[in-house]
Amino acid sequence: MSNEKILVTQPLLPPLEEFIPYLEKIWESKWLTNNGQFHQQLEQALCEYLGVKHISLFSNGTLALITALQALRITGEVITTPFSFVATTHALWWNNIKPVFADIEPHTYNLDPEKVEAAITPNTTAIMPVHVYGNPCKLEAFQQIADTYNLKLIYDAAHAFGVEVNGQSVLNFGDLSVLSFHATKVFNTFEGGAIVCHDEKMKRHIDDLKNFGFRGETTVIAPGINAKMNELQAAFGLLQLTYIDEAREKRKQIAETYREELAGIKGIHCLNDLPDTKHAYSYFPILVEEQEYGMSRDELYAKLKENNIFSRRYFYPLISNFPTYRGLTSANKDNLPVANDIAEKVLCLPIYNKLQQSHIERIITLIKADISY
Ligand SMILES: Cc1ncc(COP(=O)(O)O)c(C=O)c1O
Repeated sequence: MSNEKILVTQPLLPPLEEFIPYLEKIWESKWLTNNGQFHQQLEQALCEYLGVKHISLFSNGTLALITALQALRITGEVITTPFSFVATTHALWWNNIKPVFADIEPHTYNLDPEKVEAAITPNTTAIMPVHVYGNPCKLEAFQQIADTYNLKLIYDAAHAFGVEVNGQSVLNFGDLSVLSFHATKVFNTFEGGAIVCHDEKMKRHIDDLKNFGFRGETTVIAPGINAKMNELQAAFGLLQLTYIDEAREKRKQIAETYREELAGIKGIHCLNDLPDTKHAYSYFPILVEEQEYGMSRDELYAKLKENNIFSRRYFYPLISNFPTYRGLTSANKDNLPVANDIAEKVLCLPIYNKLQQSHIERIITLIKADISY
């Protein structure tokens, strides 16, 4: 068996020669950024593909999150999950907002609505759940809490490209949803991101904010930022959209193969697909139960690494255990037992459209090795 290096993911890269005509158009137009032709086309194409009304493209997902909080003028405290990538909470910190952590659900690893309700204080202004690994949050439960307590609801949907529940995009829920198009994501524009919103007025406001607050040539309506997506990114996104369905189908098949192959191994648990859901298969997380499996998560991670397979411990350490956040009362481990438990056991296996059957077999063989049953 080959010992070729396998990373947890590989970017979706269409054939290089297909990108050249886009570059020629950019050179011809001499228009490199600021709502250029490809930027406009990609916004429209993504609205259609994702089934959403309005989308505003960004240079990356983190700036989109920071801007989403500005657009809704969020202040005070925001309830969020510790089980995510640090950008979720950093976006709050950069807005001088206090993150309040609530625990996650044991079966989806998403923020638990019941824990959120208990964390609301007079200073709470919003809830920011994450569709972790693209698994949809409890959408109705969060909306109900937001309505009852008059809170804004912003979804970090960085992993949820194309995810639908009952035929409806998850991006149509909440006040705003934020996507990431980072190189490691299912759909990428090298770096990139977007905010999905539901009305024209909000779209215009977000568009102004991402361009220094400019509305027109001489008017600045707010202290905006520079977070615009450029034409290279947008063109790449347009090209990539023509390959996305095929890539998503490939990921689905890989997830199914992993599930079949791992099914009989004691102490290795996969996340199940959720009912009535079209998944993104952004990641393939497993839980390693040390007692049953006979090896800890970290030992399995190290063993795979020794064999040139680079799985990732997403999301470990928990955000609440990083120095910036661990002093917060809500970061206390007693407040977050499920998240702390999952963070010690989770391991994301490689998944990407070019992952071969032989690669999967290599990974499975290593996971199965030394097991006597
Ligand atoms: C959950 C989550 N939120 C936010 C981000 C930030 O996105 P970006 O890398 O595009 O800034 C990422 C990924 O990178 C993420 O995984």
